[in-house]
Amino acid sequence: MTTLAIEELNVQYQLRNKTIHAVDGVSFSLENNESLGIVGESACGKSTLGLAIIRSVPGRNIVKGDILLDGKSTLKISEDEFTKTIRWKKISMMFQGAMNSLDPVFSIKQQFEEILRTHDNIGNHLKMINDAMDSVGLSSTILDKFPHELSGGMKQRVIIAMALILQPCLIIADEPTTALDVLVQAQILSVFKKLKKEGLSIILISHDLGIISEIADKVGIMYAGKIVEFGTLHEIYSNPKHPYTQALLKSIPKIKGESDLISLKGTPPDLSNPFTGCRFYDRCPHAMEKCKKDPLKTKTETGYVSCWIYESNK
Ligand SMILES: Nc1ncnc2c1ncn2[C@@H]1O[C@H](COP(=O)(O)OP(=O)(O)OP(=O)(O)O)[C@@H](O)[C@H]1O
Ligand code: SF4
Ligand SMILES: [Mg+2]
Repeated sequence: MTTLAIEELNVQYQLRNKTIHAVDGVSFSLENNESLGIVGESACGKSTLGLAIIRSVPGRNIVKGDILLDGKSTLKISEDEFTKTIRWKKISMMFQGAMNSLDPVFSIKQQFEEILRTHDNIGNHLKMINDAMDSVGLSSTILDKFPHELSGGMKQRVIIAMALILQPCLIIADEPTTALDVLVQAQILSVFKKLKKEGLSIILISHDLGIISEIADKVGIMYAGKIVEFGTLHEIYSNPKHPYTQALLKSIPKIKGESDLISLKGTPPDLSNPFTGCRFYDRCPHAMEKCKKDPLKTKTETGYVSCWIYESNK
């Protein structure tokens, strides 16, 4: 059964003098127990997409489209019902940079207890905290410590454990390995691999395709607010179709230090401008006259691609 279906999702931030189209017509679905990687350059809308799924987009905003969990709309229910039944209980999120926002004046245990209090949870708090700590490979002896006494990797595991405390079926992890050294990154990824094996679905947000490839079954390539290509990890890696996906893949450094690093010239378009046509137009080596019109989604073996090259093949 489909666990999560995103249908034509649009998220706009309303600023005083402009509107930012951070997520623009995004659709995909994720089956039970599947994990998804969302990858794209800075400011393409990855975090906003994650925040919209958990109904936590900040500021003045407009969210349109729909998000279905097991076939039921999560956008059409009240905020109260969403909080009581879905947020942290079915879907939770590790926010970008969260390990740096642990409260310095409270112990780790107090911070867990605060989360459980906010959720009005009447279960055995200590058992729930210990189980969550155990699931990320942390000893409960660190519960009395304060954030400054923990390493970056430990703090990040605490953040994962906090997101898991109410046993959600899906966790959105926004850049969980950024700012960690390579060894610690590998440890955090192995925590996610273990959780995935135990049946947790993960939406992993990253600007790094290499990290995504460790966890994801499916991949969404995001560019300037749109998912321009979606498919299984295997299809995206072995037969990338969108010129942006091809450029991203070429930018992964080869293991032996060979330099196959291409730098993609130019910058993504300003998301506050009304836009028609392919958003990759200015940077695309294959741009054609017809790319000035919006490309539609063309079905691929396992997903879709939005590019005129493939529409002409229909
Ligand atoms: N609270 C906000 N208010 C107004 N604009 C915002 C807000 N948050 C994000 N934006 C804008 O929305 C767009 C998408 O931002 P978002 O943070 O979702 O991108 P991202 O892909 O997560 O970037 P990064 O890789 O740097 O984390 C950007 O233009 C950003 O400036
Ligand atoms: S639609 Fe055109 S400009 Fe856009 S990625 Fe495809 S070929 Fe390039
Ligand atoms: Mg982000």
